[in-house]
Parts: sequence; structure tokens; C-alpha cells
Amino acid sequence: MAHSSSRPQTLPPLRHLLVVGCGGREQALAWALRRCPGIEAVWVTPGNGGTQDLDNCKSLAVGEQDPEGLIKACREQAIDLVVIGPEAPLAAGVADRLRDAKIAVFGPSAEGAQLESSKAWAKALMREAGIPTAGHWTVASAIEGLELLKQLQRPLVVKADGLAAGKGVTVAETLEETEAAIRDAFAGRFGCAGERLVLEERLRGPEVSVFALCDGERMVLLPPAQDHKRLLEGDRGPNTGGMGAYAPAPLLDQAGLEQVQQLVLEPTLQALRDQGIHYRGVIYAGLMLTQEGPQVIEFNCRFGDPECQTLMPLMGPELANVLQACALGCLDQAPELSVAQTCSACVVAAAEGYPETPRKGDLIQLKSDPDSQRQLFHAGTRRQDDGQVVTAGGRVLTQVAQAADFDQAFASAYAGLELVRFNGMQFRRDIGYQVRRS
Ligand code: AMP
Ligand code: GLY
Repeated sequence: MAHSSSRPQTLPPLRHLLVVGCGGREQALAWALRRCPGIEAVWVTPGNGGTQDLDNCKSLAVGEQDPEGLIKACREQAIDLVVIGPEAPLAAGVADRLRDAKIAVFGPSAEGAQLESSKAWAKALMREAGIPTAGHWTVASAIEGLELLKQLQRPLVVKADGLAAGKGVTVAETLEETEAAIRDAFAGRFGCAGERLVLEERLRGPEVSVFALCDGERMVLLPPAQDHKRLLEGDRGPNTGGMGAYAPAPLLDQAGLEQVQQLVLEPTLQALRDQGIHYRGVIYAGLMLTQEGPQVIEFNCRFGDPECQTLMPLMGPELANVLQACALGCLDQAPELSVAQTCSACVVAAAEGYPETPRKGDLIQLKSDPDSQRQLFHAGTRRQDDGQVVTAGGRVLTQVAQAADFDQAFASAYAGLELVRFNGMQFRRDIGYQVRRS
């Protein structure tokens, strides 16, 4: 592959970075990267209402799916490394276009991004590589799906094949619910993302997210994190992008993490390589810890949001060089990534109406926070011409805090949220209940 032949002997200078995206994840990436020694400036495109509050960070008005605009911006700002946050530009081949223009990019090619953009493709890869995951069937019509259901006579998990912004999955409890989900999907509920469906056996157990930073051949794992997908306390209500998280999740100790690396992540990277895909970015494994061991629920081709916001404050000053080395295929030349041994807690503040119809345009009141162990990452926010910040998306802000234990870390995160107000603000008060005593 052309990529492997371009492997450098030493890491080139790294001063100017560009983070692509506008969410809390990208705000946290920019915040962590601009703390790394030698980094002079981080641009975020398009960024959000909080970008300009980060030291040495600036927003750029270029769309995340505009490769020409991004290439031009990279040339004008002498960008040494681009980090692509969301899945949509990756699936659309933005990383490929930047690489063709000889720009170093952390983020997989469109082919590699199929780990997330096609559940059927990801399942086939897992099956070939012997990676533990739920049994599945791919169907291309309602008749085919319903016929299968008739034979199996048990409820199944119904998943749209393509990108459906986290809303394409129904965990059906009954045959009737399974049938309705199959019919809805083929009636166009997910647009073209639902033209094919993956039907899966239901697994049971706690879920945990593991992130591997990959250079195509080698990988570094981050501490496991646990997300909270449901909108309401007690894990009730509709699925969301994620309402809060914590790390490191004690569900997986060091031995468990190593087992996941050997059983899941190394074989996945190898299977990608066997297909000629040099995957240079994050593999996000969403795992269920079943009685038979860890099983893959899904792969994503990017950092989780809000897991990323939770993890970034734990990352050492080597982070920028590690991402650069992944982008260049030479992780063995990067300094070892150090990780702070503290507990990180994260709570998302969402807009009224989230996730279905979030209300926009509410004024956000923010008091400054002197606590250096606490970070407020903007997500769906916008700065108006008069300088005031208003809500502009579903998940508005992410409050993160670190402390010696999870009780203190969550107490601090919730205290941080008291410094923030906007009309209709909603957040879960029970994030981290799995690891809290109070
Ligand atoms: P996904 O978008 O694939 O992560 O699925 C969303 C959520 O649906 C997951 O976080 C799980 O809680 C649930 N889920 C997905 N697949 C399964 C499965 N095979 N068994 C049980 N729950 C599942
Ligand atoms: N927090 C889950 C995700 O980013 O998909």
C-alpha cells in the first residue's frame, strides 16, 4: 500500500492542528491537544460557541464534509495534522481526500469507516475474523425479514444497516415488536440507511466502550468508559447519543482489557489489513460483557461522545504525538501515552425536547469556574454576533470532573453544572450510579 511506504523514520514537527467537527467530542479533543508541548495553535472547523474560549484555539468556517475547503485551510494555516471527529465525513471519504493531498490525518478511510457505516459489512468482517459477536442475519426486504422471524419464533434486535445517528436500533421484547420494527424500517423510517437490515440475537450484560488508537498495524488502548444511552434516570426513556459517562470503568480491569485487545481489537485490525485497509484512527468497540465473555455490539470509526470528553482530561502530554504517529503509520516511534490515574465523571446537559425535537436559541448563562479539575465542554452551542452564547443543538454542554474517587468526581461535576443555566436544561442526576455510593 502507498500508505505504508510513506512511513517516516522520525516524527515530523507538530505545531498546527486542525480538528474537524462541532460537538463536545471535538471541543474536548481540541482542549486536550492544545495542552501538548510544542502545539502552537489548534483550529476547529466548524467548531461551536465555546471554541474561541479555549486558549490557542480558533474556529474556521469550513464544513466538515467539504474536502476542498479543508485542504485549502490546511495549506493556509500550515496544518501538520488533521483529526476528524465525527463519522459522517469519515464515511464520505474526507480522510482519503486529505491523504491524497499529502496531509497527515487521524481518521480511517471510507473503506475502513464501513466498520460503522455498514453494520452488515462489520458483521461479515467479525464473522470472518472469528470475533465474538451476536449471531445475525442480513435481510434486504420485509418479506425476507418476516419469513426469518416466522422460522426463528423469538424476538430479535433490529438494526438499520447504514448510519442512522444512533437511532437505527430496536431491541425488541416480543415477536410483534420485532415484526413492527422490520416493517417500519422497510417502510422508510431510516431513509436509505434502512434499505438493508441486520437482525441479531439479543445479548445480555453490562455495556462498556473501549477505544483503540490505531496506526494500521499497532494500537494503544485507552481506559474503558461506560456511557448512559437512555434519556431518563434509571436507564429509562428513549435512546440518545449519550447522557453521561465515566472512566475508567471498573467493569473491565487490566486483564479484561487485555483480553478485549487480544480477542477483539487485534483480530479486527488484522482483518482490515487483510483487506488492504490500513486503518489509521480510532476503533471504538461497543461491548457487552456477557456470561460467555465480551461480545461486540457495534464498532464505530471514531471516539464516542461523551466518552471522549470523559477520557481527554486523563490523557498525558504525548497525546498529540500519538495521534500523529497513528496518522503516519509509525506508532512505535511515538512516546508512550501516559494516562492520569484518577476517576473522571461526565454529565451531559441537553436541550428541552432532546432527542426528538431539541429547542434552539435559548440563552446560556455561564459563570466562570476556578476549579482546574473540572471542564465544561461546549457541544450544541452558538455564539451570536453580540457575543452571547445560545443553544444550537440537542446535547448542549458536557460537564466533566476528575477526583480521587467517583463519589467526589460526580459531586464535582454536578456542582459544576450549577454554574450553568438555560431554559429547558435537562440532565440525568444518576450518571455513574454503577460506581457511586452517594
Ligand atoms: P448500537 O447502535 O448497535 O450500539 O445499538 C444501540 C443499543 O442497542 C446498544 O447500546 C445496546 O444497548 C442495544 N443493543 C444493540 N445490539 C444488541 C444486542 N445484540 N443485544 C442486546 N442489546 C443490543
Ligand atoms: N456515546 C455513544 C456514541 O458516541 O456512539
